[in-house]
Amino acid sequence: TCPVLTKFQKNCATPTTFLRVVADAIADDMQAGLAVHGGGDLEMILTYVDALPSGKEEGLFYALDLGGTNFRVRSVQLGGEEERVVATKSEQLSIAQKLMIGTSEELFGFIASKLADFVAKEEPGRFRLEHGRKREIGFTFSFPVNQTSIDSGTLIKWTKGFNVSGMEGKNVVACLNEAMEAHGLDMRVSALVNDGVGTLAGARYWDKDVMAGVILGTGTNACYVEQKHAIPKLQNQSSSGTTIINTEWGGFSKCLPRTIFDQEMDKDSLNPGEHVLYEKMISGMYLGEIVRRVLLHMCQTSDLFGQSVPAKLATPLTLKSQDLCKMQEDDTDDLSSVGSILYNIFEVKADLKERRRVVEVCDTVVKRGGRLAGAGIVAILERIERETKRLASGQRTVVAMDGALYEKYPQYRQYMQDALVELLGDELACHVQIKHTKDVSGLGAAVLAATNSIY
Ligand code: BG6
Ligand code: GLC
Repeated sequence: TCPVLTKFQKNCATPTTFLRVVADAIADDMQAGLAVHGGGDLEMILTYVDALPSGKEEGLFYALDLGGTNFRVRSVQLGGEEERVVATKSEQLSIAQKLMIGTSEELFGFIASKLADFVAKEEPGRFRLEHGRKREIGFTFSFPVNQTSIDSGTLIKWTKGFNVSGMEGKNVVACLNEAMEAHGLDMRVSALVNDGVGTLAGARYWDKDVMAGVILGTGTNACYVEQKHAIPKLQNQSSSGTTIINTEWGGFSKCLPRTIFDQEMDKDSLNPGEHVLYEKMISGMYLGEIVRRVLLHMCQTSDLFGQSVPAKLATPLTLKSQDLCKMQEDDTDDLSSVGSILYNIFEVKADLKERRRVVEVCDTVVKRGGRLAGAGIVAILERIERETKRLASGQRTVVAMDGALYEKYPQYRQYMQDALVELLGDELACHVQIKHTKDVSGLGAAVLAATNSIY
């Protein structure tokens, strides 16, 4: 036995009874955040997306997408109810690390220059901009934004390793506009949306049963369709109909099973403190780092890898969630790929017993993450259920899902799904569909730009 591992496993346990406590605590914070601004850990941001896509939208629209692993530019020619997406074209680039922590001029200058290149290469035959109209953009900006209207909002704070100076409190659309002007681009942002909102909207364009958009990628978030009369903080606005709420659930922090490794990782992160604890336990950017810290501690207390501590094991962010996944998927008798991954990353020669221990650590962290994510989804579904009684009446209810963690980590998906069924019960869970809708947020943002077009 390994005392460090045993203790860690105990501290990470997420039995169904505990997940119920978490789901209820998330629900309470959702309610508190809907009542007043800053009422709970969850921001419960009003997105101003009241009209959901109908499929009837028409015209040429653009989408920009910033905040995941990749930056994307897309154009979409919408042909109305019969034809739907007539043509679409997209380009994907990675954002250099230095842009993530540089100045807003550098970041938005880069975005505008890529957009200018994209527009310059356009094929006029396939994409038709109506005469006299500006090109309109749906901008997916995957960070918490205090939305002031559908087409403007100020950055609340950076997450996921971004830390561009002087941006907090600034209007994101104004920054983009300035950069576009500098690049001679006469385009207009008609919708500014979170990636969860884009995912919900893009999926809803094809499927009327979509009620929520969840991201499990570098970061995590959930957005859902809420009844306006159930949002006290809407005050003067009309209380009929529905609107999308961006929960920013990554900020949830109550009652989470934080270990010393979580605490230290949080302390050393770019955004330490009480924020984004849930995100730091369940999303792709952090899982590998938690595992590395546990392994390092096991190594220092001589439960692992012999006498000396390998330098790479002491280096932050060397282990990624993809590596955890590959190690968990190794089904060979001698865990040979676990051995070679450990060798390639940390330059250690691990024996079979050590390889097994490493896989157990990965499994502990991934199980806790997946199950906590499942509890969050249940909180969202139960909130929707409260107003609509969809599941109880047997109506199919779809959660549109995007993000590399969900897409590429089957074991994580399984843990998430298990928790969902345990908490909801078979009878309700059988009407829930978690639908992987990859990269649909660009379409969603473009469609919302169409809905909110100035023409
Ligand atoms: C994409 C969104 O589809 O999913 C991004 O449009 C988002 O903005 C992402 O952040 C999640 O991706 P990743 O790369 O973090 O897994
Ligand atoms: C982070 C961001 C949030 C985003 C999520 C998923 O939590 O704060 O806005 O939706 O990551 O990309």
